[in-house]
Amino acid sequence: MRIVVLTGAGISAESGLTTFRDSGGLWEGHDPMQVATPEAYADDPGLVQHFYDARRAALSQVEPNAAHHALVRLEDALGDDLLVVTQNVDDLHERAGSRRVHHIHGRLRSAWCTRCDERHDWQGPLADGPACPSCGASGLRPDIVWFGEIPYGMDLVEQALDACDLFVSIGTSGVVYPAAAFVHWARGATLELNLEPSAGATDFAESRRGPATHLVPAWVEELLA
Ligand code: APR
Repeated sequence: MRIVVLTGAGISAESGLTTFRDSGGLWEGHDPMQVATPEAYADDPGLVQHFYDARRAALSQVEPNAAHHALVRLEDALGDDLLVVTQNVDDLHERAGSRRVHHIHGRLRSAWCTRCDERHDWQGPLADGPACPSCGASGLRPDIVWFGEIPYGMDLVEQALDACDLFVSIGTSGVVYPAAAFVHWARGATLELNLEPSAGATDFAESRRGPATHLVPAWVEELLA
């Protein structure tokens, strides 16, 4: 069985990473148009860099949870027949042991040089304008897909959805495109695992409610039984 799993901020919530649109979410404390657009970066790079530096630093305070680990068990069983497509910029899937993970919105622990176009794994801050390890220029920005920019690797995602037998969406509100349209692109059966109904809940053949750390291990166990 070929499965595509889409994950959103909800899968990392129980690890201690704030989601975007839930109460107390990131977009309550910050205007996304001021910290997550190329225009905002041009207007006030310091504000944007500090926003992502704080999120990057927070990664060292959190660990993958039972939902991340359950997807690793599924990958061990399915191998290349499982693809995790994530909107998340954290590295909790990889730290849990997932190998087949595609980040459509980029990664916090990656810096992108606006001068030489190289990308570099990055742990520390960017606000102090460090030199690019490739070209030496001070043009490193967060390797994050901002509003108005094109998500990464959409061809790969479209092909996987077109060939899948099952599409499962975990921990996303279903309001940001193109991810919110994947349920329509998926050729196979569709399942939503979410704390609350997403904006596209009625587009799924089946929806289950609850925290990811309960729903995902139970679903994986059921599938592998
Ligand atoms: N378990 C399962 N689902 C959860 C949990 C949990 N513990 N906690 C929250 N959720 C669900 C919420 O009900 C909500 O539907 O996760 C979803 C989180 O939604 P958002 O905060 O909107 O996050 P997401 O859907 O990932 O955002 C999509 O928007 O801001 C941009 O680029 C950013 O990738 C992000 C995109």
